[in-house]
Amino acid sequence: MSFILAIDQGTTSTRAILFDGDMQVAHTAQQEFPQYFPQAGWVEHDPEEIWSSTLEVCRRVISEQGISASDITAIGITNQRETTVVWDRETGQPIHKAIVWQDRRTSAICEELRTAGHGDLVHKTTGLLLDPYFSGTKVKWILDTVPGARSRAAEGKLMFGTVDSFLIWRLTGGAAHVTDATNAARTLMYDIREGGWSAEICEVLDVPMQMLPEVKDCAADFGIAAAEHFGAEIPILGVAGDQQAATIGQACFQPGMMKSTYGTGCFALLNTGATPVESRNRMLTTIAYQLDGQPTYALEGSIFIAGAAVQWLRDGLGIIGSAQETGGLAASADPGQDVILVPAFTGLGAPYWEPDCRGGMFGLTRNSGPAEFARAALQSVAYQTRDLWEAMRADWQEAAEDSVTLRVDGGMSASDWTMQSLSDILGAPVDRPVMQETTALGAAWLAGMKAGIYPDQSGFAATWARDRQFTPAMEADQREAAYGRWKRAVQAVIGV
Ligand code: G3P
Repeated sequence: MSFILAIDQGTTSTRAILFDGDMQVAHTAQQEFPQYFPQAGWVEHDPEEIWSSTLEVCRRVISEQGISASDITAIGITNQRETTVVWDRETGQPIHKAIVWQDRRTSAICEELRTAGHGDLVHKTTGLLLDPYFSGTKVKWILDTVPGARSRAAEGKLMFGTVDSFLIWRLTGGAAHVTDATNAARTLMYDIREGGWSAEICEVLDVPMQMLPEVKDCAADFGIAAAEHFGAEIPILGVAGDQQAATIGQACFQPGMMKSTYGTGCFALLNTGATPVESRNRMLTTIAYQLDGQPTYALEGSIFIAGAAVQWLRDGLGIIGSAQETGGLAASADPGQDVILVPAFTGLGAPYWEPDCRGGMFGLTRNSGPAEFARAALQSVAYQTRDLWEAMRADWQEAAEDSVTLRVDGGMSASDWTMQSLSDILGAPVDRPVMQETTALGAAWLAGMKAGIYPDQSGFAATWARDRQFTPAMEADQREAAYGRWKRAVQAVIGV
């Protein structure tokens, strides 16, 4: 039997998932790794710990399944996006810890670039905003800060990569310095229309272009993992950033299809087809996937707090013992109260991009208690998704025609109460798939399809199966009144 090994290198843990020839999960292994917070707003990972956790989970999943590396046809990689690694071309050693996507240290650099008038160039070329979230200013910071780095970079001695790129460099023993179009699209240095690195932006950031990896399709020959790692050589044939991999795993291949992944935060991607749609509502324009040299574009919205609001109920307030209790508690809330939580614990992401505002709770009465707080926390996820939904529909005419299908995944999608509330607040159907491992499946399908053991795009799309569809049960006027209250609450926290 042949297997595909998916590596899912996420923000808090690294996972290895073995898929069998029928695209079913055969076995998984997972390892958390340390997070470093050297200063307020800074978040780092040790690239060596990312690497060792990757080797560990891959070796474990192979041995626990009782197979050998020669039973694995190909590797697919999916990864936390934007996180930035710079390493030495000769030694392969990183010159600094990885700067994680959540890290805000480059906000002053972003402000300077904005003041110097580079915002338009960045937005038009990359589809992104001048925000510390993306890799470009993180690379600049490393080159500006590590002694000697800038001259070594100019001499071609340093390499930059997102986590996929660093892992492939290590897996191939330094033979391949590559990435895929979805990861490149998150660096702030990639021209998503022309399909190449932007010399103009690299000059603005003072990043020498010889540091940058070669950009490939998502299903391509990325190199061969050396035999020393797993006991036999394995080709790496699929790569996509994790949110794009979930879009692929959810088979959102038609324009108008949208997926929303509910983890700690929430990332929603709407497939807009072969033409990039420029957002007028502060969504990001990005590459959903690139196959056979043809990019498919997406609008993306990111919410920072989704499942984290439930963690706050549990760890901050102590009103639930486990996340699973939240739905039942929310269902028992007093229907006569309209308690609203705006969970801007770390500011607000799309479409507001207000890094400095903080959360608020509205509509409290003397009868408000744990049940109303639980309902408010779960509904905040639905309201935030509606914000993204509204912005995307305003940006893209086709989506305004009520033709958007929303496919959900991630831990919170298991909550029936939350998904029903999502459908009620959106006023649209919400589809939950049977297969919950959508991110890993996306990476595995890319690799298995390239290897010729998995179906083509339409064959794969036909395998998507629904676990449950949630349809709106709320009256339209009630929905709009509730959403109006949310919008006013958001304006209030922004104004405080
Ligand atoms: O853009 C950041 C995103 O890719 C991180 O995803 O699942 O590792 O938190 P995750």
